[in-house]
Amino acid sequence: MINVKYPIVKPVVPSKSKYYSYISDVFERNWLTNNGPLLKEFELRLAEYLKVDNLMLVSNGTLALHLAYKALNVKKEVLTTPFSFAATASSICWEGHTPTFVDINEKSLNIEHSLLNSSCPRTSIVAVHVFGNPCEVEAIEKMAKENGQAVIYDAAHAFASHYKGKSVLKYGDASTLSLHATKIIHSVEGGAIIFKDKDKLELAKQMINFGFDSNNIPASIGINAKMSEMHAAMGLTMLDKVDEILEHRQQLVYEYQHQLKSIVAFQQWHEHGENNGAYMPILLRSEAELKLVMEHLTAKGIQSRRYFYPSLSQVEAYGQQGFTPTANDISLKVLCLPIYFELTINGVIDICNEIKTALR
Ligand SMILES: Cc1ncc(COP(=O)(O)O)c(C=O)c1O
Repeated sequence: MINVKYPIVKPVVPSKSKYYSYISDVFERNWLTNNGPLLKEFELRLAEYLKVDNLMLVSNGTLALHLAYKALNVKKEVLTTPFSFAATASSICWEGHTPTFVDINEKSLNIEHSLLNSSCPRTSIVAVHVFGNPCEVEAIEKMAKENGQAVIYDAAHAFASHYKGKSVLKYGDASTLSLHATKIIHSVEGGAIIFKDKDKLELAKQMINFGFDSNNIPASIGINAKMSEMHAAMGLTMLDKVDEILEHRQQLVYEYQHQLKSIVAFQQWHEHGENNGAYMPILLRSEAELKLVMEHLTAKGIQSRRYFYPSLSQVEAYGQQGFTPTANDISLKVLCLPIYFELTINGVIDICNEIKTALR
């Protein structure tokens, strides 16, 4: 067994005393979940930090997607990207919708907006800000408005990602965040939805508590997607150090790019945004080269991940609808490298030296 020197991800954990400072009152109050005071505080502070309105917390990023589809009454036909995590496509299928995969842009790795079928009002759009990189939000908004299409952004990676100086989460009818343990900030498990309209927020708030209205009568079909006080407490500890986390992760990305710029390619970030340090993908020239690098890194105790592989349009369970040659090709060549708060600049240099050796 090879010892893992550099894992692919490592959750940030607060000191026990820090976490306890938030949860000690929970024991006194004996209020563990159901819209408790810590949930409300986390919701408020997160919305303030991100400078967004109509934000609600939920128990994970996958349920955030399901709830967004339900609240926005997403149409049966959904146009989406094949280059994403399983949850993007599986949530569409699980809701009984049919995903049609639209190819991606080989540079941004996001859905190619010019390929979205602009003449189809029967469809809704689920796009992903892949690795935090903003989609062409203005072009998508214009097209969707003309066609009466709902747009949902799976923004699981887009915490603190900006477009033209404002949060990218302000675009679309809804954006969903993941606050899973491996994300930039987390609540162990958790997620959030940011709605454009307040009435959709109110509807979704009802839905996450079994559909109960203020009289405790089921007024809509609901589910249990509430975030507990213990999870909210973890989220609050993260917000206390979020700027430090973001700055460090961005430094790591810059160092990786500096070290590797002459031997691999990178995702091209939107000119109106700035890398949020959520992931560190590199693009190799072929799958054979990717495997060579991956095997070398594994032997040296460095984890890497084929993220996202395979292209979702090639997964039988998701229906395989759509023509996506670019995504199919890109998914063979993208490798994600370790990135986490505890990783040091020297660690990045160490990892890059091994990649240089593998490609020599
Ligand atoms: C693009 C994308 N969407 C959705 C999710 C699901 O989020 P969660 O793990 O919080 O359910 C993830 C998880 O990493 C993701 O990468």
